[in-house]
Amino acid sequence: MNNLIQSADGSITAFNQEFCEHYSSLSDGAKTEKLYKHIIPAATLFANQPQIRILDICFGLGYTAFLSAQIYTHTAQSIHIISLEKNPATLHLAAKIHNLSKEMITKLANGESLFIAPHTSLRIVWGDAKTHIECFEDNTFDIVYQDPFSPNKNKDLWSKEHFRHLYRITKAKSVITTYSTSRQIKENASEAKFLIYKLKSQNLRASSIFTKSPIALENATQISLDNLA
Ligand SMILES: C[S@@+](CC[C@H](N)C(=O)[O-])C[C@H]1O[C@@H](n2cnc3c(N)ncnc32)[C@H](O)[C@@H]1O
Repeated sequence: MNNLIQSADGSITAFNQEFCEHYSSLSDGAKTEKLYKHIIPAATLFANQPQIRILDICFGLGYTAFLSAQIYTHTAQSIHIISLEKNPATLHLAAKIHNLSKEMITKLANGESLFIAPHTSLRIVWGDAKTHIECFEDNTFDIVYQDPFSPNKNKDLWSKEHFRHLYRITKAKSVITTYSTSRQIKENASEAKFLIYKLKSQNLRASSIFTKSPIALENATQISLDNLA
């Protein structure tokens, strides 16, 4: 069972009994966390790109997917989001939070692609994210929201092997966003050849960005491997 609960910014999150963890940060706020640690930094870096492919790991309560649709809604950019998720119950929680119609729920539950905003499509790929990630083709994604549960609860989705696959399936100019600032995770990403950036947003805990090539983002600072904090 999942218990809905209000987070610091007033937005709703839930507690997941299987992983014993909330779907979002209670102290940063569910909406605030997803917007400032994932969606806005990535959208800023890709502001001039007409078509963007996003891999959302994982769908959860749907904030990363549905808030992305909102953020890109005033641009002419064409956005394709693939969300990975193993737990069908999450869709029913997301439906309450994002006011989804029965038709939308049915299509998403069936793994169909759906326009959730005029230029934004979403498809949920159900099942084990690890297996699906291994099967994506090389150079597929521009943006990856690396948002599983924490590394000690969701080990497979934070391993060195996982980051090697992310390196393979992302384009040369791509970005991985994540809330994790763990030294071990930064080392795993660095071993896969990603550059590591620390992201600071006002009034929020720091987060991380991994890229294949250098980026210029106002509040992001590159960290060298000798200096991983
Ligand atoms: C922190 S939540 C994601 C939050 C989501 N991005 C949002 O905006 O609401 C983590 C999600 O990962 C899913 N998950 C964990 N391990 C998984 C796996 N191996 N395969 C697919 N989904 C998984 C959980 O069911 C949970 O919904």
